[in-house]
Amino acid sequence: MALSVVILAAGKGTRMQSSLPKVLHPIGGVPMVQRIINTVNELGADAINLVYGHGAELLQKTIQEDNLNWCLQAEQLGTGHAVKQATPFIQPEDDVLVLVGDAPLIKSETLAQLQAVKQTADVALLTVNLDDPTGMGRIIRDASGENITAIVEHKDASDTQRAIQEINTGVMILNGSDLLGWLDGLENNNAQGEFYLTDVIAMAANAGKTIRSAQPASAVEVEGVNNRVHLSKLERAFQLEQAHHAMLAGATLADPARFDVRGELTVGNDVTIDVNCVFEGKVTIGNNVKIGPNCILQNCQIADGAVIEANSIIQEALVGEACQVGPYARLRPGSVLETKAKVGNFVEMKKSTLGEGAKANHLTYLGDATVGANANIGAGTITCNYDGVNKSATVIGANAFIGSNSALVAPVNIGAMATVGAGSVVTKDVDDDALAIARAKQRQMTGWERPTKK
Ligand code: UD1
Ligand code: CA
Repeated sequence: MALSVVILAAGKGTRMQSSLPKVLHPIGGVPMVQRIINTVNELGADAINLVYGHGAELLQKTIQEDNLNWCLQAEQLGTGHAVKQATPFIQPEDDVLVLVGDAPLIKSETLAQLQAVKQTADVALLTVNLDDPTGMGRIIRDASGENITAIVEHKDASDTQRAIQEINTGVMILNGSDLLGWLDGLENNNAQGEFYLTDVIAMAANAGKTIRSAQPASAVEVEGVNNRVHLSKLERAFQLEQAHHAMLAGATLADPARFDVRGELTVGNDVTIDVNCVFEGKVTIGNNVKIGPNCILQNCQIADGAVIEANSIIQEALVGEACQVGPYARLRPGSVLETKAKVGNFVEMKKSTLGEGAKANHLTYLGDATVGANANIGAGTITCNYDGVNKSATVIGANAFIGSNSALVAPVNIGAMATVGAGSVVTKDVDDDALAIARAKQRQMTGWERPTKK
């Protein structure tokens, strides 16, 4: 039996006040609808039918999945009408899972639980109890309380029905054959003049089908986004959960409320992370790593014992064991720090390797450079890697010493144990052990008189 998923995402999302379709607004850096697609793929969806209405071009550019069918609902005539747009892709023998595109925090565990309920019933419905169920479809049960007999929308509900706190989340699993039949029977004679998907529940009950429910572990899983206040609430709920993952994996967070993961973060034991750090893409942090406040780490690996000081930005880089970075360092893509290397404040690296124990402590640019073990790069050193057209490489040998404020004009090689005098503009290779000084000679004029005011 195939699992066919229908995601309802044709609503305009007017209250977002945005040119971006609502379901493309991100949670944890991932568009809401992509998050839902990822979740149902975890579950093993065979086909995903995305019902869309607005922003087709942007949606199709952003969302690319092999098992996705695009189902246009040109006019939004209700959730039942929306599901109907997917019927060309639904087979009678399918299990059909219906989801709403603007409730991004649904978990695959919860959906798996709903699937288990479906094994024992004809229809499985995800419901939740809310303190304030205003606006939601209410779950109507028979006297025993065990059997669901209908869903009544808030606008159509009596006062007694409105007192019911169990609501429809919009998530359900039905047999394809049942659904295809019931959709044909939907009518729009209700308060909103819409074709309600929820009417299939009464049809099921009347046909003697069993309808059973499951509930999510937390109501936030089924909470929808209608405006940016809701979006921020779900973002914080999501981030708090990421913070809990990190803490349970061994990280001490200075403040879980000031911690943002927009990707996949793996942490070792005894990691400390100060406030306002952002982790993007795939970030792996070893044991005993310390990360100062306001750091941004993107697709990088930080090995055991490294210290990343405040306000450092690390992108697509490898930081080796016991390295020190920052404060205010910027490691751009292709930066590699080998064991115990050190990069200090206002140092930028790009596509460069700093060998074991090598140091660039202050105000330096290393681009397309390879620096040998234990070399020392003085303050203000610049590798001049770009001639306006091409990029060239700089190679600095082990134990070399580059004096402050030197410009190394690539391509150029500085030998092992070589020394470059401060303020040099190095345009030719320097041999191993040699001293290169490439600057104007100091002159001294005696008997010189300072100018005086006229
Ligand atoms: C719906 C349910 C209600 C449930 C609530 C949970 C119906 C009739 N009601 O109400 O029981 O408590 O969700 O949030 O199903 N959509 C379309 N096409 C349409 C209409 C809606 O794609 O023509 C999509 C929307 O983009 C949204 C989802 O369906 O993702 C739900 O629509 P919405 O208008 O929010 O439904 P509610 O009235 O809130
Ligand atoms: Ca809604």
